[in-house]
Amino acid sequence: MNLPSLKQAKIRGKEEVKILYDDYKIPNDVQNYFKNKKYYIETYGCQMNVHDSENIKAILENIGLTETASMTNSDLIILNTCAIRENAHNKVFGMLGRIKHLKEEKKDIITCLCGCMAQEENVASIIHEKYKWLDLVFGTHNIHKLPILLGELIKTKKQNIDVYSIEGNIYENIPVKRDSKYKAWVNIMYGCDKFCTYCIVPYTRGKQRSRLPQDIIKEVEELVKDGYLEVTLLGQNVNAYGKDLKTNYNMANLLENVAKTQIQRIRFITSHPWDFTDDMLDVIAKYDNIMPYIHLPIQSGSNRILKLMGRRYTKEEYICLFNKIKRKIPNVSISTDIIVGFPNETEEDFQETLDIVNTLKFDLAYTFIYSKREGTPAAALEDNITLETKNKRLQKLNNLVNKYAKENNQKYLNKVVPVLIEGESEKKGKFFGYTDTMKLVNVKCDPSCVGKIINVKIKEIKTWSLDGDINND
Ligand code: SAH
Ligand code: SF4
Ligand code: F3S
Repeated sequence: MNLPSLKQAKIRGKEEVKILYDDYKIPNDVQNYFKNKKYYIETYGCQMNVHDSENIKAILENIGLTETASMTNSDLIILNTCAIRENAHNKVFGMLGRIKHLKEEKKDIITCLCGCMAQEENVASIIHEKYKWLDLVFGTHNIHKLPILLGELIKTKKQNIDVYSIEGNIYENIPVKRDSKYKAWVNIMYGCDKFCTYCIVPYTRGKQRSRLPQDIIKEVEELVKDGYLEVTLLGQNVNAYGKDLKTNYNMANLLENVAKTQIQRIRFITSHPWDFTDDMLDVIAKYDNIMPYIHLPIQSGSNRILKLMGRRYTKEEYICLFNKIKRKIPNVSISTDIIVGFPNETEEDFQETLDIVNTLKFDLAYTFIYSKREGTPAAALEDNITLETKNKRLQKLNNLVNKYAKENNQKYLNKVVPVLIEGESEKKGKFFGYTDTMKLVNVKCDPSCVGKIINVKIKEIKTWSLDGDINND
């Protein structure tokens, strides 16, 4: 039993990050036990978690399990959880209620919870005290240990909570079963050291650790060999890539080296405005295979609130960076994240957020109601904006954001754009994919287009998507 500690999770010491190439091991008895059994996995949260689930799936398949889409028919259930907002928590606790009933009927089913919620001290202690039927809880730092933890569990049949609040290492040899044959997530770094005052991630994911450039390039080269067309470089704060390495190698260098591989499309998320360099912009502008799309969270348009959030930039600095990106990268699309209802956010502060949306006219904005996270600095401030006000502000903001999303899409009408077709669309008889600028497109085309980048002529504009036909001109 190893329970997480908030106090330890805050620490950023001088200890060197270990890069471990052979820490993933499978005990023999585990393999025999799980042969022909089925697992069901549910993933919440960000792309980081989606990619972790790709690792977890591969680990489970390594020990003999196969995936099922039916929870009731499975022998092992894993919830890979997110802690970013209260509603993420609520969804998981709701799900645990359902799983408990299932476990009562089917005693042998193995139930596991992992991910960012497992890293939270308060969640782990609730599970320890009130969810004694839950078999295994592991965190974001020990996914590689899953076969060993399952081995222990089948022997002891006792609940095990194995969560470490350490700064973190890098495990290089964890297997991966990718959800797509065309697009791949590639971690370039783990953790976050920004400690924005509202955010739980630095506590659930540990300190910033950059993977070595050669390990990243090798992974991308293998993906190219396997026929992948697109990679998304993943990190909480990718622009800060390399700052923790003992070299001068930085995100601009990495982007350039990835661009020199044969991969056709490169994306990267998320960019924190603080670390965006001119060198990065030059590299993005120089290489055609780096996509002209940047996700640049602003969070608020009020300098007072930005300061309280610990974001380390002013709205003027953000606008300046935004304009520079637009100048240097032709055709770029820019999306953002915005939080409403941060403690003490006045109507004037909120108006400044609306003003900045009116000024910058984002291609897309992901909008959130502030959610108090236990243990973060902002949790010490009174969460004093009523839910009613928060909802009203969110609604007002969404209306504006949607207006500009549609307006931005207008310029695509009758244009021909490259789309990587990923699969069948929800719209009957159509296929879907994304443009270089990350616009969702529903296309009338042949099934043989799946897995290819094709030219599409845009025929209709919507708020969230574009409709088009294959371009034969
Ligand atoms: N690393 C990324 C963001 C990761 S979390 C960055 O810094 O840009 C994704 C988004 O969730 C954040 O950009 C923020 O808008 C939102 N978010 C994070 N913590 C939140 C909280 N406590 N309440 C509401 N929204 C939050
Ligand atoms: Fe959270 Fe800020 Fe780190 Fe993003 S940069 S993960 S918002 S602490
Ligand atoms: Fe959620 Fe953890 Fe990602 S808190 S947003 S799953 S890093």
